[in-house]
Amino acid sequence: EEQLARIAGLPKTELHLHFEGAAPPAFIRGLAAEKQVDLSRIFNEDGSYAYRDFTHFLSVYEAATGVLKTPEDFARLCRAVLEESAANGVVYSETFLSPDFCGGGDVSAWRDYLHAIREAAEAAERDLGVTLRGIVTCIRHFGPDKARAAALCAAETADDWLVGFGMAGDENRGRQRDFAYSFDMAREAGLQLTSHAGEWRGPSEVREAVEDLRVTRIGHGVRAIEDPATVEMLAERGVTLEVCPGSNVVLGVYPALADHPIDRLRRAGVKVTVSTDDPPFFHTTMRREYTGLAQRFGWDEEVFAEINNTAMDAAFCDAATRAAVK
Ligand code: ADE
Ligand code: ZN
Repeated sequence: EEQLARIAGLPKTELHLHFEGAAPPAFIRGLAAEKQVDLSRIFNEDGSYAYRDFTHFLSVYEAATGVLKTPEDFARLCRAVLEESAANGVVYSETFLSPDFCGGGDVSAWRDYLHAIREAAEAAERDLGVTLRGIVTCIRHFGPDKARAAALCAAETADDWLVGFGMAGDENRGRQRDFAYSFDMAREAGLQLTSHAGEWRGPSEVREAVEDLRVTRIGHGVRAIEDPATVEMLAERGVTLEVCPGSNVVLGVYPALADHPIDRLRRAGVKVTVSTDDPPFFHTTMRREYTGLAQRFGWDEEVFAEINNTAMDAAFCDAATRAAVK
């Protein structure tokens, strides 16, 4: 009990957090009321987000995001998200931002959104002690053309705060290599790379993320466990997995945490880290992820220290930021 409380209270690094997906339902309901938009269909009676499966989750996510209109809306969201992170002991976090939802891929509009978000993040860092960095993400089911616009936004705004480029969305659509042009553009602009793979599709998708997009991190990647050669490749190349166990269980990738491969991957020498993905959608928090893993796999404080070291080593921020957080 005491040990569990200590584990829940550890300082945490989170590498995989969708910005809009972290919006508390009450925050979205409040914005909808202000703007007189009827969003009741995306909520359960108890106020939580209502969705049936992964593709429906994506459409509910996009509907919720629809009430976030102005840079000011996103700045308010930033404060709400970081208050939740700080309450969970998160000291460093990277979040996925989508130009598709912030100005529709227009670079000059994107700059305004980014500026508002960054200002809110810097205020929250002073007040709450949590450091945030941004990763521009393209959305796979929006297709390669929209991805290019997102990559251009990323390349034009890459700096010490906007540190990465990635891809989220429906892994069952298209191929990773359709997005190689965008990832190349982002890499040439100095951004570090991650892609969602091996959440819905198997080990070959994980290999393609590494080989076709040349990412150093993978969102999820857990289904690599189905092929020993892929597990070995990840371990050998030192690819870091952004594992989101609670998300995987709620979305049905695995029936229960006991079936989740995170501990097996770790024991096989793969660099694993722990994140929430879209916490209110999956009824999770960083504290819940940690206590769940401690209870299910017997992870102690030493293991969590190793997990957090792995995460800070794989963080996309500069060395000075990394040193200040560590
Ligand atoms: N966008 C938000 N959450 C996601 C997830 N778990 N997988 C793919 N795309 C997402
Ligand atoms: Zn994700």
